[in-house]
Amino acid sequence: MSSAAPVLTIDGPGGAGKGTISRLVAERLGWHLLDSGALYRLTALAAVKHEVPLDDEARIAEVALGLDVVFVAEPETTRVLLEGEEATTTIRTEQVGDAASRVAALPAVRHALMQRQHDFRKPPGLVADGRDMGTVVFTEAPLKIFLTASASERAHRRQRQLQEAGVDASLSSLLEEIQARDARDMQRSVAPLKPADDAITLDTTRLTIPEVVDRLTELLTERGLAPDT
Ligand code: DC
Repeated sequence: MSSAAPVLTIDGPGGAGKGTISRLVAERLGWHLLDSGALYRLTALAAVKHEVPLDDEARIAEVALGLDVVFVAEPETTRVLLEGEEATTTIRTEQVGDAASRVAALPAVRHALMQRQHDFRKPPGLVADGRDMGTVVFTEAPLKIFLTASASERAHRRQRQLQEAGVDASLSSLLEEIQARDARDMQRSVAPLKPADDAITLDTTRLTIPEVVDRLTELLTERGLAPDT
């Protein structure tokens, strides 16, 4: 029954707007949301907390398998509890993002998180946000999107986000970090970041968030996956 629920996969590099877009599309349709990056971030955070070295593949895979996490959907955000403790903002820091990108390169860790990701697929449908949702985790999804934007636009967006949070960061260092993260995500041997053969690529560099959300709901409607909204 649960495997019959439709899935919209949204993959792409960091900063392309996947998180915001996925949440808005899921809200509009009343579908479930999988933020798979959060699972890699939580694995990294739990590993650090339990002093497991980030290159100890077998032990990190155990951490991933036993992850004690609760997602609480709220109107503007999803609260995250790790082992009963608030982790919503901690998992979004650059340090945790960097550690997440390292543990995400370990095949045993990716394998350990597979079932947990499949469990999010429930009626009436799922929006799955990540890097390998369409290529590995939900290969038979009826609509796959590869969301991208130029590296410089992504650095500007990140800078604006940080400024809103009262943090100053130079554009050049943000651009360097984005390029390093992209390179690591695209060059890893297991589940590298790339569009699925049957994905539709959407470049959001010059699009507003509502324009992207409208385009995705149109595509879902055209394919008979969502009611006309
Ligand atoms: O989307 P994000 O920044 O929260 O992802 C954190 C890291 O996890 C990032 O380096 C890419 C990696 N990741 C992954 O390898 N596969 C996914 N499905 C999601 C994220």
